[in-house]
Amino acid sequence: GPDAYDAGPYLPDGEAGLPALRRAAAGCEGCPLHADATRTVFGAGAPRARVMLVGEEPGDQEDRRGEPFVGPAGRLLTRAVEEAGLDPDQTYVTNAVKHFKFTRAGSGKRRIHKPPTLRELTACKPWLRAELREVGPEVVVALGASAGKALRGSSFRVTKERGVPLPLELPDGERVLVATIHPSAVLRAGEDRDAVYGGLVADLRVAAETLG
Ligand code: URA
Ligand code: SF4
Repeated sequence: GPDAYDAGPYLPDGEAGLPALRRAAAGCEGCPLHADATRTVFGAGAPRARVMLVGEEPGDQEDRRGEPFVGPAGRLLTRAVEEAGLDPDQTYVTNAVKHFKFTRAGSGKRRIHKPPTLRELTACKPWLRAELREVGPEVVVALGASAGKALRGSSFRVTKERGVPLPLELPDGERVLVATIHPSAVLRAGEDRDAVYGGLVADLRVAAETLG
């Protein structure tokens, strides 16, 4: 019924590959977020990446361009990934929620990011689950609380569980999850910005070491 938030009915039948999933996700109306956003922002990157990085939701620039992590947070993330010893060309990047959620600020048209609710995270999970199945990463990195909740459940706390390898059950076996802060937390940090950034890189290094 109209109260059911669920991307499930919009997924292709069977085990569709990434291109078919991306096409189907473009038409998803599984929750109300599709109504105000410009487009679905599906994951991108190496189709058989050893590492999958999961953010929260696309931001303003991602919504305009249709690609994940192409704005300020994405540039910072790319730098941190490289510094941690991960090859950005060998990663797949996506979000827990595929549409930008925002409010409009003041008289201008500036769109202010709003975090997704647990209900929206749950609704969008079938896309993330399908991406995990198709990419089959060895290590999944949760960037922030929303990704952590999508992957580990609503009791997940990034401050308590960051930077250590955690078990992650995927359809084809157990993999490793490493949680860290969201890169936008570095952008928001004040004078302790260098330390916050260092923490992000240190956590990403745990993911790199897990790959061996
Ligand atoms: N923040 C996210 O979580 N994802 C993006 O794609 C961009 C910013
Ligand atoms: Fe579908 Fe996810 Fe977009 Fe909601 S946020 S409409 S579930 S793709």
